[in-house]
Amino acid sequence: MNTKVTIAGVEFQNPIMEASGTFGSGMEYGEFVDLNKLGAVVTKGVANVPWPGNPTPRIAEVNCGMLNAIGLQNPGVEVFCERDLKFLEDYKDTRVLVNVCGHSADEYIEVVDRLANEKRVDMLEINISCPNVKEGGIAFGQDPKAVEKITRLVKKHAKQPIVMKLSPNVTDIKVMAKAAEAGGADAISLINTLTGMKIDVERQSFVLANKTGGMSGPAVHPIAVRMVYECANAVSIPIIGMGGISTWEDAVEMMLAGATAVSVGTANFFNPTATIDILNGVMDYMKRKNISDIRDIVGIVK
Ligand SMILES: Cc1cc2nc3c(=O)[nH]c(=O)nc-3n(C[C@H](O)[C@H](O)[C@H](O)COP(=O)(O)O)c2cc1C
Repeated sequence: MNTKVTIAGVEFQNPIMEASGTFGSGMEYGEFVDLNKLGAVVTKGVANVPWPGNPTPRIAEVNCGMLNAIGLQNPGVEVFCERDLKFLEDYKDTRVLVNVCGHSADEYIEVVDRLANEKRVDMLEINISCPNVKEGGIAFGQDPKAVEKITRLVKKHAKQPIVMKLSPNVTDIKVMAKAAEAGGADAISLINTLTGMKIDVERQSFVLANKTGGMSGPAVHPIAVRMVYECANAVSIPIIGMGGISTWEDAVEMMLAGATAVSVGTANFFNPTATIDILNGVMDYMKRKNISDIRDIVGIVK
């Protein structure tokens, strides 16, 4: 039974990854999950310098999901390389995708250049879709011209293949996918979170200090499946699908819609072994359905 998938020349032992920002750099989940069994570890967003993130409270539970407005808190690329990349050295079987964030094109490029010679980094996931940072992030992800421009610039500097992470907070995500492809992206990933809001009726004020936050979790899954399907039929580069995946059925559904690999995000918070449970479920499904190669199910629902 083959569970291997290839994206931009990088081979993954299986298509199950975790989603950026929900798994640290793997360290925190090492007690629950054998990181060597995952297709990839996708790191929290990394910037050129440390970012403090947004004021608290910055997390809220909502029906079938959560809102977050972390604001991409991270220790900066130097600490990341010394601490997190070093930790990941021991996990040779899993691929490493580093999620990159910035307020400006220059800031993205600084991180990309710094990571260029880091052998442990297999791919870069460029976050142009975070709804929780005031400049940069989403500002790049909502305008197709800006998507194409930043993709082209990053591609010029990157030594590893690049995955552009798209925002669902747009009218037509196909347009953004095509812009990323036109700019030279090796792959795209989607979806990032959907902008939401929660109001505390007793206090009569916003639950999150940032007022708005990114919605994720099981409630967004059908939206993510629809968007992955649309993009898969609009571009020819591979797709890493995510958004509300919490069961193996969700993962298979995303692959049938056109994702070559999938990422598990919010589910890690309510089930720390979600990634491995999903991997086992997908393999049982393959056995039961006599699927000898996982690649055979990608995008077959038309
Ligand atoms: C607490 C939290 C932090 C996140 N941080 C990042 C991040 O640093 N970079 C990024 O590209 N996406 C980030 N995301 C978005 C997720 O990677 C994912 O795209 C989104 O949550 C949808 O998947 P899910 O419903 O499975 O969580 C974050 C999501 C959550 C919930």
